[in-house]
Amino acid sequence: MKIAVCPGSFDPITMGHLDIITRASALFDRVIVLISINVAKKTAFTLAEREALTAKAVAHLPNVEVDSFDGLLVEYVRARQATVIVRGLRAMSDFEYEFQMALANKRLNPEAETMFLTTAAENMYLSSSLVKQIAGFGGNITGLVPACIQPEIEARFANPSR
Ligand code: PNS
Repeated sequence: MKIAVCPGSFDPITMGHLDIITRASALFDRVIVLISINVAKKTAFTLAEREALTAKAVAHLPNVEVDSFDGLLVEYVRARQATVIVRGLRAMSDFEYEFQMALANKRLNPEAETMFLTTAAENMYLSSSLVKQIAGFGGNITGLVPACIQPEIEARFANPSR
C-alpha cells in the first residue's frame, strides 16, 4: 500500500490545494492531508478549524483522509508508514522554500521522498493568503475555494473577532 502525505497550513484550503490533493489521490493508494504548523505563519483559522474545513472539502475523495499534527512532519510520515510527501509547486518563487524543506526532510527521514506536482495553470496565482486578503476586504472568493466551505470562510471574515 503506497501512502502519501500532503502537508500544509491549509489556512484555508483553496482550489489549488484541492487540485493537488485530487491528482495525488489518483497516484497513491491512500493520501493523508496533514494540517501542520508553519512556525512562520500566523493563521486565521485554528488547527481544528482548518482540519474541519479541509475534511469537508475532500469528503468526496474516498482514499483521502485528513489529520492534524503539531510536531515534525517527518515523524508523522514515519509513524503512518508513508513513503512520499506531496507538495504543489506554483512558480519559481516557491522553489527555494520548497527545495530547502525537501532537503531538510530528506536528512531527517531518508526513507521519505518529496514529490512535487505542478500547479494547474489557472491556479498559478492562487494562495490562502490571497483568499484571506480578498475575503477580508469583502471581495468575491467564488471559484478560489471549494464551494462547500465558501460560506464558512466568508462568515469568518465578515466577523473576524469570532
Ligand atoms: O502550507 P505551508 O505553510 O507552506 O506548509 C508548510 C508546512 C506546514 C508543511 C511546514 O511548515 C511543516 O512541515 N511544518 C511541520 C513542522 C516541520 O516538520 N517543520 C520542518 C519542515 S523542514
